[in-house]
Amino acid sequence: MIQFSHVYKTYPGPIHALRDIDLMIEKGEFVFLTGPSGAGKTTLFKMLAAYDKVSSGNLQVAGFDLCDIANKEVPQFRRRIGVIFQDFKLLKDRTIFENVSLPLLVRGDRPQTIQRRVSEVLEQVGLSHRAQQMPEFVSGGEQQRTAIARAIVHQPGILIADEPTGNLDPELSEEIMDLLERVSAQGTTVFIATHDHEMVKRRNKRTLQIRDGLISGDGV
Ligand SMILES: Nc1ncnc2c1ncn2[C@@H]1O[C@H](COP(=O)(O)OP(=O)(O)O)[C@@H](O)[C@H]1O
Ligand SMILES: [Mg+2]
Repeated sequence: MIQFSHVYKTYPGPIHALRDIDLMIEKGEFVFLTGPSGAGKTTLFKMLAAYDKVSSGNLQVAGFDLCDIANKEVPQFRRRIGVIFQDFKLLKDRTIFENVSLPLLVRGDRPQTIQRRVSEVLEQVGLSHRAQQMPEFVSGGEQQRTAIARAIVHQPGILIADEPTGNLDPELSEEIMDLLERVSAQGTTVFIATHDHEMVKRRNKRTLQIRDGLISGDGV
């Protein structure tokens, strides 16, 4: 499902953001990526989501060879993944319902299909009662749940979340992690970057440690 082989990413400087990354994540796994700020977590996710290309090595995700992907294939690849950011990245001038419907609109789904699927996913994340609200009028936890709904509405095989609880208090963070575990239980591969070691310890899941661009640990 996700396979990095000898992946390097070097930024001008040169800054060696990723060095010889070798890792394999199977379908349906739930995996944490931990490491201090600047370790390479966001860079690894950027490569994984085809926002940027690796400098060398091989990267296969959801059946796509991301070293060799043509620009016109990228939208098709992106439909196979969902991405969640620390700062939610919701559109302020759209309702929660409209924010969540975007991936389906882009894909060209019919209005009835969108209505049905968005209602279903809002129910799943516990936001049915917020559907017609604007994002700035709901809590941080609800904004992040909106972002999760938007990331899973098109039923991607892989969900990546870059520090999804970085802006939330501990109680809301636990709620978001519970929700991500439920998404995983339905068969989606879930890969979460975080520097919250306490939370990672409590969850007892496979954890990859990254430090200075190198994987320094992999285990439960
Ligand atoms: N676009 C970029 N250009 C140059 N250097 C970058 C860029 N993005 C990240 N870096 C550098 O790469 C290293 C890893 O950064 P990043 O992946 O953002 O780490 P993390 O997400 O773990 O905090 C850091 O030294 C950072 O300064
Ligand atoms: Mg980061």
